[in-house]
Amino acid sequence: MASLFHPHVFSFFIFFFSFVLLGLAGAAAALDRVPEKNRFRFVNQGEFVDAPAEYGADYRAVGVVGSPFQLTFYNTTPNAYRLAIRMGTPRSESVRRWVWEANRSRPVRENATVSLGADGNLVLADADGAVVWSTGTANKGVVGIQILHSGNMVLYDKKGRYLWQSFDHPTDTLLVGQSLPAAGAAKLVSRKSESDGSPGIYSLVVESGQPVLFLEASPSRSLPYFNLSRYHGASTDPAIFECSPRGANISYVLSFGSLSVQTKYDSSLSFLRLTPEGDVEFYTYDDRVYYRAWQKTFALFDEELSGFSACERPSRCGKLGVCEGKMCTACPAAKGTGAWSPACAPPRRRRACRPGASSSYIKVAGVEHFLTRNSEGEGKMTMGECRRRCNVDCDCLGFLYWEESSQCWLAPVLGTLNKVNDPKHAAYIKSS
Ligand SMILES: *[C@@H]1O[C@H](CO)[C@@H](O)[C@H](O)[C@H]1NC(C)=O
Ligand SMILES: *[C@@H]1O[C@H](CO)[C@@H](O)[C@H](O)[C@H]1NC(C)=O
Ligand SMILES: *[C@@H]1O[C@H](CO)[C@@H](O)[C@H](O)[C@H]1NC(C)=O
Ligand SMILES: *[C@@H]1O[C@H](CO)[C@@H](O)[C@H](O)[C@H]1NC(C)=O
Repeated sequence: MASLFHPHVFSFFIFFFSFVLLGLAGAAAALDRVPEKNRFRFVNQGEFVDAPAEYGADYRAVGVVGSPFQLTFYNTTPNAYRLAIRMGTPRSESVRRWVWEANRSRPVRENATVSLGADGNLVLADADGAVVWSTGTANKGVVGIQILHSGNMVLYDKKGRYLWQSFDHPTDTLLVGQSLPAAGAAKLVSRKSESDGSPGIYSLVVESGQPVLFLEASPSRSLPYFNLSRYHGASTDPAIFECSPRGANISYVLSFGSLSVQTKYDSSLSFLRLTPEGDVEFYTYDDRVYYRAWQKTFALFDEELSGFSACERPSRCGKLGVCEGKMCTACPAAKGTGAWSPACAPPRRRRACRPGASSSYIKVAGVEHFLTRNSEGEGKMTMGECRRRCNVDCDCLGFLYWEESSQCWLAPVLGTLNKVNDPKHAAYIKSS
């Protein structure tokens, strides 16, 4: 006969009561509303702040502040605004810089709104009311919003726990203390250009525990162009942008994975940026000074700051060019190599690509490429086979071939060809 304390009945009761308790807890959280004093609705209209800003932007201050950070609407082209956090104090003459943005793919217009209502959802809506972005925190117990002194914008509950934070949603910038999770969806993506804030082709991703820079050759194809573990070797704590005092209080160290640089003063107000050109730069802000508050303390493709040549940046010579030292020195062309100019590009082919049709190639001996430095290529094969594979591939603009190791790389992107002393490392550029 089943007693009330039969184990199954008992577990049913436990199950049932936890269900009731969870329900109650859920209801309690849902009852937490944002108090009147913490709610706001800001309409993007009116005067601009009279202060210089990055990319020549105009901006309006929304009112959520944590000095030297502030939530704003800015634009670089007329009537295309982005909700963003700017960094810099009004005291300084130096530019305000953009360190976080809500939805970079979708600018909003004059009279767009940003609001935190009683339900605790921070919502960006365009002038016509269309919701463009939100924190997805409706009815989760949010009681207020704050920008911390680190620049992290948080929505917190009544126990002070963060239910949403901007640090979990980086754009092209990391602030001190911010990290890129090793297995997360978070990555840095460059902006298209200074004037166009929509996502560009470069990204910084943590892969196998190490930060790696990628270039998007097509929507379905990303190519690694610099493995950050090459700098000072691999690091165990790869992806937090940190500032730490070094011994006696004379200098500080800014670091990200194996990248690190010493600075003269407390550099906890710094950021790491993946630039529109695919470089990684550190900027440090000195909030005690009135002028020249910003200093570029590091750039990956600046030999004086990092030891790596500008020629390692894929777009250093635009669409095509031979790079030596840090200069673009030559433009390979069917008629013979000429001087380099920004117009240098792979030859335009007269006939439309037919896979398999034989092509001719311009040979450039004694060069390497970001593909040869960062990927294994197609494996050992003859030069004829490498060429045949490029012939049949309409996305192949050319190939890199190393005679001594029989390695072959097909290149959907050419860009910078680095001059090296070894003539057996050659590039072949499709010309017809
Ligand atoms: C913004 O809204 C105001 C009314 O609040 C209106 O007068 C103005 O024309 C609007 N601006 C634009 C560009 O639509
Ligand atoms: C940004 O806006 C686009 C277009 O409205 C939308 O498809 C996308 O989901 C939005 N992204 C985020 C993170 O809200
Ligand atoms: C980058 O380097 C690390 C450590 O050497 C390695 O594990 C990883 O596979 C490399 N990633 C790429 C894309 O080359
Ligand atoms: C650091 O500076 C403070 C204030 O100037 C001083 O009191 C302290 O002794 C210094 N510490 C070291 C390790 O030099």
